[in-house]
Amino acid sequence: MLESVMNRRSIRKYTPEPLTAQEIHTLLECAMLAPSAMNRRPWRFVVVTDRAVLNALRENHPYAGMLAQAPACVCICCEACDEAGYWQQDCAAATMNLLIAAREMGLGSCWMGVAPRKERMDAIRRVLHMPESVSPFCLIALGHPAEEPPRPQRWDETMVHENRW
Ligand SMILES: Cc1cc2nc3c(=O)[nH]c(=O)nc-3n(C[C@H](O)[C@H](O)[C@H](O)COP(=O)(O)O)c2cc1C
Repeated sequence: MLESVMNRRSIRKYTPEPLTAQEIHTLLECAMLAPSAMNRRPWRFVVVTDRAVLNALRENHPYAGMLAQAPACVCICCEACDEAGYWQQDCAAATMNLLIAAREMGLGSCWMGVAPRKERMDAIRRVLHMPESVSPFCLIALGHPAEEPPRPQRWDETMVHENRW
């Protein structure tokens, strides 16, 4: 677990090997086990493996070039969410569970931000035929990694305060 947390990196190069249905099921189950405010579990998932849809997502997100190679993408979204509520934190928790699980399973992943940028949300909603009541939170590229970025050194004690600011 610690190995996966520390060595997970954003993967932007993938082999063509598809994910199995079991792998996708396990990733989504891990996402669904994330913590959420009042255990509301507001997340919904759109699993994309159709090459035409992957290409359309890439063309409609400014930083999704890796979807030209990635064999799968999951859009984490929320249905009928309260704008004043915790849906974005809930979806972020589900996203992190999925990213760590992917690393643990030998898969690569990359989080692509969508919410709260309205233009990105509108574009992804259009590509995935979502009704207005659905709010896309992020896209996650998935596949077998064709690169292994090194673990960076990010420990920074100036970010840490003890007992008071
Ligand atoms: C909210 C959020 C949005 C991100 N959006 C993108 C994106 O659109 N495209 C991309 O290639 N990476 C995206 N990333 C990945 C970051 O660039 C990456 O996490 C960061 O550079 C640290 O690298 P690491 O994930 O390998 O540790 C996003 C990450 C987060 C948390």
